[in-house]
Amino acid sequence: MSIPMRWFGSRYAVQVNEEVWLIEPSGPLRGDVEVRGSKNGVSKHMVAAMLGDGESMIQNAPDVGEVGITAEMLRALGINVEITPREILVERGPEINPRVPEAFTGLNRIPILMLGPLLHLAGEAFVPLVGGDPIGRRPVDFHVEALRAMGAEVEVSDTGIHAKAKRLRGTRIELPYPSVGATETILMSAVLAEGKTVLKGAATEPEVVELALFLQRMGALIELSPDRRIVIEGVDRLHGASTWLNGDRIEAFSYLAAGLITGGQVRVHGCPQDRLVTAITTLARMGAQLDITDDYLSASAPGGLRAAAVQTDTHPGFMTDWQTPLMVLFTQAQGMSVLHETVFENRLVYVPALQKMGCEIEVFDVCLGGPACRYHDTNAKHSAVVRGVSKLRGADVTLPDIRAGFSAVLAAAAAEGTSTLRGVHHIERGYHRPFEQFASLGLDIRREKVQGE
Ligand code: UD1
Repeated sequence: MSIPMRWFGSRYAVQVNEEVWLIEPSGPLRGDVEVRGSKNGVSKHMVAAMLGDGESMIQNAPDVGEVGITAEMLRALGINVEITPREILVERGPEINPRVPEAFTGLNRIPILMLGPLLHLAGEAFVPLVGGDPIGRRPVDFHVEALRAMGAEVEVSDTGIHAKAKRLRGTRIELPYPSVGATETILMSAVLAEGKTVLKGAATEPEVVELALFLQRMGALIELSPDRRIVIEGVDRLHGASTWLNGDRIEAFSYLAAGLITGGQVRVHGCPQDRLVTAITTLARMGAQLDITDDYLSASAPGGLRAAAVQTDTHPGFMTDWQTPLMVLFTQAQGMSVLHETVFENRLVYVPALQKMGCEIEVFDVCLGGPACRYHDTNAKHSAVVRGVSKLRGADVTLPDIRAGFSAVLAAAAAEGTSTLRGVHHIERGYHRPFEQFASLGLDIRREKVQGE
């Protein structure tokens, strides 16, 4: 896994050169890929493990940049992390440094999740401003307000967030929107708090439930109730635990789309069907033939694909991270498709890169293809109309974020002519060995080094 220097401050620099991927048209992609535990799950489990007395083991871990970044953050706090090809071992050291170094500013969304655990371990915490992909404002107000409601003093400055609390206490919290990250912050803060926390409006994404199950294994008292309600009764201590991560549903959908977009067929192993229900139905409505077994899922479209109208939503709706491969798929479906993004107002920032490759996509600030969403009276361009079938052409593009990055590979795979993709570290932050996976499916893909800044 190559990690370019700008992911880390100088103390954490591990590599100075960045690479580009050169992709040639190579026909239908066919074959088998195995997806491992999700990027969105693994790093949260690593953070949760710091709450346990004793060793925790996270199995079926993916080889993604996010793991390396999170491991460096944890080590800086005094947590031992050992990474082997498929497992991650986490064990708290004797002394905790409650400050996540500022060198980690803007790298990913993980530091904010460390606030609650650090308050439990050290009574205070500092985390630098969180990053993530440029897909919206991505505020952290729900996290901050939840910690305040649990009794923490929290100060937000230009550099980061300071928090203090002798002991967090359970309380009633209602989230204004079922945020994945805020639900995870509340889970990891409430498990060791004094008394009961009742969370309403919680996210129910499979990765959130997976985290709750891991915390339960560590000794936490968590009840998942109907209607987005989670009740957590604080305990005095948690112990280490071992868990096996379920396959990444974003990767699984993306590889199914890779097969369909190129007129081929990819068999995806490692992701249970129940993580993909809405995605599978969407593909079937578009005319794909699905083969679903207990070992793998595959999709093909010998008769071609039809246009569709899809709206992204919280679980169990069509997830926002499936939207980017879907958009490329729309360009290869017959007719006009409509996409309405309702989770992140700025998630369509990648469209210009796809337009450069010949995708006929137009974006709008109104709500198309579904009821009005939170962004209906804003200027946010969060709907798209896509014309298919478009003839795609290779281009030189810079990838703006992780999910968009993968979609550019999909477009390049279906395009005529060579594509040069820059910023591929975005893809490697969140997908398990994507270069090797694409090569094994028959894509003509080459790496080339370019001098880093
Ligand atoms: C996580 C996933 C991301 C996925 C998203 C939704 C990780 C690392 N990332 O992101 O891949 O697309 O869930 O499934 O797991 N919000 C606020 N204030 C807050 C927190 C969130 O207004 O304090 C808003 C966001 O701006 C967004 C919405 O809530 O509009 C959903 O965000 P959230 O579910 O928190 O996404 P993340 O946890 O950041």
